[in-house]
Amino acid sequence: MKILIIGGGNMGLTYGRSFVRSHITSRLDLRLLARSPERVPALALHDIGTVWGHPSECVPGADLLILAVKPQDSPALFESLRGLVQPQQVVLSIMAGVRIDTLREALGTPKIIRAMPNLPAQIGMGMTAFTSTDAVTRAEPGTGAEPAQHHRQDGVRGGRIGY
Ligand SMILES: NC(=O)c1ccc[n+]([C@@H]2O[C@H](COP(=O)([O-])OP(=O)(O)OC[C@H]3O[C@@H](n4cnc5c(N)ncnc54)[C@H](OP(=O)(O)O)[C@@H]3O)[C@@H](O)[C@H]2O)c1
Repeated sequence: MKILIIGGGNMGLTYGRSFVRSHITSRLDLRLLARSPERVPALALHDIGTVWGHPSECVPGADLLILAVKPQDSPALFESLRGLVQPQQVVLSIMAGVRIDTLREALGTPKIIRAMPNLPAQIGMGMTAFTSTDAVTRAEPGTGAEPAQHHRQDGVRGGRIGY
């Protein structure tokens, strides 16, 4: 599965490391988007996947896009993604306080998952509740057995909990 993580901070890197460690994806198939081309080298030092500086270089071809920037950075991010996200791509946002309707409208795409990880995710011991639009089925990447897996040591899995 080709995963693009947008926002290589605490949570983005936590997810990225977990996906590679759990073989949910490989370094070759994991992409990280930096805020700007100037920030690519610093992010590349983490050696988790390929690092890109422009959305147009890495959004096409990704199966799953994970939005892990601070909520206050979301308007600029949405602007930079405008017209790039395709209807078949699944977008998973972990941004606190950014509603599904806002994401759907800003990105113009139907398959949206919103999840709320918590701090124990950083040591692989948390769980993540998630909710999604109806366009997301259980077969989509990001809905359970894949990216949620690294949060599942306690046997609890995310699920559609209404939005
Ligand atoms: N930390 C938690 O425990 C936790 C729990 C649940 C949810 N969340 C949510 O997770 C999200 C990320 O939190 P965090 O703690 O990981 O924040 P963080 O450490 O500040 O990381 C955010 C990253 O996003 C990057 N960024 C900003 N705008 C970007 C853009 N347009 N394109 C690409 N990258 C961009 C920043 O790059 P620069 O370094 O270049 O500025 C930074 O590396 C937040 O929305 C938060 O609500 C966090």
